[in-house]
Amino acid sequence: MEMGFTLFCILCFLVSISSAEISGKVGINYGQLGNNLPSPARSVKLIQSLKAKRVKIYDANREILTALRNTGIQVSIMVPNEIITNISSNQTLADQWVHANVVPFYPETMIRYLLVGNEILSSSNNRTWFSLVPAMRRIKYALRTHGIRKVKVGTTSAMDVLESSFPPSNGTFRSDVSYSVIKPMLQFLNRTKSFFFLDAYPFFPWTSDPVNIKLDYALLESTNVTYTDPNTGLTYTNLLDQMIDAVIFAMKRLGYPDIRIWIAETGWPNGGDVDQIGANIYNAATYNRNVIKKFTAKPPVGSPARPGSVLPSFIFSLYNENQKPGPGTERHFGVLYPNGTPVYQIDLSGETPESEYKALPPPENNEPYKGKIWCVVAKGANRSAVGSALSYACSQGNKTCDPIQPGGNCFKPNSLIRHASYAFSSYWAQFRKLGGTCYFNGLATQTTQDPSYGSCKFPSVTL
Ligand SMILES: *[C@@H]1O[C@H](CO)[C@@H](O)[C@H](O)[C@H]1NC(C)=O
Ligand SMILES: *[C@@H]1O[C@H](CO)[C@@H](O)[C@H](O)[C@H]1NC(C)=O
Ligand SMILES: *[C@@H]1O[C@H](CO)[C@@H](O)[C@H](O)[C@H]1NC(C)=O
Ligand SMILES: *[C@@H]1O[C@H](CO)[C@@H](O)[C@H](O)[C@H]1NC(C)=O
Ligand SMILES: *[C@@H]1O[C@H](CO)[C@@H](O)[C@H](O)[C@H]1NC(C)=O
Ligand SMILES: *[C@@H]1O[C@H](CO)[C@@H](O)[C@H](O)[C@H]1NC(C)=O
Ligand SMILES: *[C@@H]1O[C@H](CO)[C@@H](O)[C@H](O)[C@H]1NC(C)=O
Ligand SMILES: *[C@@H]1O[C@H](CO)[C@@H](O)[C@H](O)[C@H]1NC(C)=O
Repeated sequence: MEMGFTLFCILCFLVSISSAEISGKVGINYGQLGNNLPSPARSVKLIQSLKAKRVKIYDANREILTALRNTGIQVSIMVPNEIITNISSNQTLADQWVHANVVPFYPETMIRYLLVGNEILSSSNNRTWFSLVPAMRRIKYALRTHGIRKVKVGTTSAMDVLESSFPPSNGTFRSDVSYSVIKPMLQFLNRTKSFFFLDAYPFFPWTSDPVNIKLDYALLESTNVTYTDPNTGLTYTNLLDQMIDAVIFAMKRLGYPDIRIWIAETGWPNGGDVDQIGANIYNAATYNRNVIKKFTAKPPVGSPARPGSVLPSFIFSLYNENQKPGPGTERHFGVLYPNGTPVYQIDLSGETPESEYKALPPPENNEPYKGKIWCVVAKGANRSAVGSALSYACSQGNKTCDPIQPGGNCFKPNSLIRHASYAFSSYWAQFRKLGGTCYFNGLATQTTQDPSYGSCKFPSVTL
């Protein structure tokens, strides 16, 4: 009796420790791909003003880790993708990395998570895929060697690690990594009681099928749309839960039903290009406020496959980052503008009632744009870089730039910017269907205003 009671209490102590260990407090991703961002010290103040209790960075930036000292903010740092292959085969290198990037800051800076690489399995370099888990093991071993036991080791995965995610119960890892990479990774995560760090954006599946997926369902805003998985009978009320459960079922299929999920990135763009839909302040604020409400709910709500479980998370991201490549949405995920002012009101603690928020600007691009679009030189673009981009655009297709040659309809006025705008529009009109973009390293932007003049007609893309 006595014995049983003691044992029971040891157990409940253990249980209470392990559940106290992780909370649903929402953190923020602090990306730095901008040439106009506030200093690390100011950024940490801004992170605190958002009431974020956790922050994730994409490296182990010394200034940031110093600014985070004694703030009580939990920190996730990252081993850069480029050195994973070397670390995977060299324990000395792993030890050196931990010695240089963790030891000087720990424990005053509350480093708690160490992610080995960012979305490695989404890259085409399969050499790094197979180095990933060995590198994770070496980093974990190096932490232990340095007496650091509170830091969980993981890596981030995007939804493209799955080859099937629908219905959620059919969730299956990609066959090119399933047994060679994912299974050993799950074994590592399970053994070290770490997390499956998932980057999950309902925005992307919604934009690829906005007709069949209701916007409200993607924004966690729907009150009447549900989906019931025919195999499990589980009923879904939003797209994010479907995505999370697809990963849970995929892990279960490989024999690991209990590994916890960490939402390492989620968010919604507050702006984007003319040819993108649903990227606006209204939707971004709605989505982020709704996920924060979900993640901070007490008691925790979890997802249909794991009701009541805690879903720790990092919102993406702190700033709009002007140097992120790709479509315009990539540069518009911030909750703050680069000057530190909020894009919309947000409280990561989830404590501010919705009624206290000011009205949001109504969404204007929830339907696809219909009409012509041109691609022109962006304001403030670097002239010498524009010159190189012009040459590049003209060297691609057939006759792309004939009208801006001497004697052509668009030669006069002989201005670099006008010629480049013509070349960008002409290039994009020819190549958009083949995946060509109106970006040119940030030198170009889409416009719905026809730049044509006189007899000079700019080619356009018609949506
Ligand atoms: C990896 O190691 C090789 C051989 O030691 C070295 O040449 C290379 O520069 C290293 N790569 C990186 C990214 O450090
Ligand atoms: C492992 O890394 C260390 C430290 O960079 C280096 O001195 C050593 O040559 C590497 N070992 C091998 C086998 O590449
Ligand atoms: C890695 O990629 C290369 C080139 O795409 C391919 O030939 C090779 O089969 C791949 N290796 C594995 C193990 O998948
Ligand atoms: C289930 O997943 C498999 C691949 O893992 C796929 O071929 C199949 O189409 C999926 N089923 C449904 C109903 O989507
Ligand atoms: C995962 O970890 C749990 C708890 O440590 C253990 O009981 C279980 O056997 C592990 N699962 C596998 C498949 O190794
Ligand atoms: C759900 O409610 C919205 C708004 O009230 C309405 O437009 C929509 O038709 C409803 N959808 C269903 C499936 O009932
Ligand atoms: C403009 O671009 C050129 C290369 O195209 C580069 O060398 C130069 O540093 C850039 N200037 C500025 C102010 O960014
Ligand atoms: C350019 O023209 C040639 C010959 O008409 C054609 O084979 C080729 O596909 C064209 N290239 C592009 C990029 O349109």
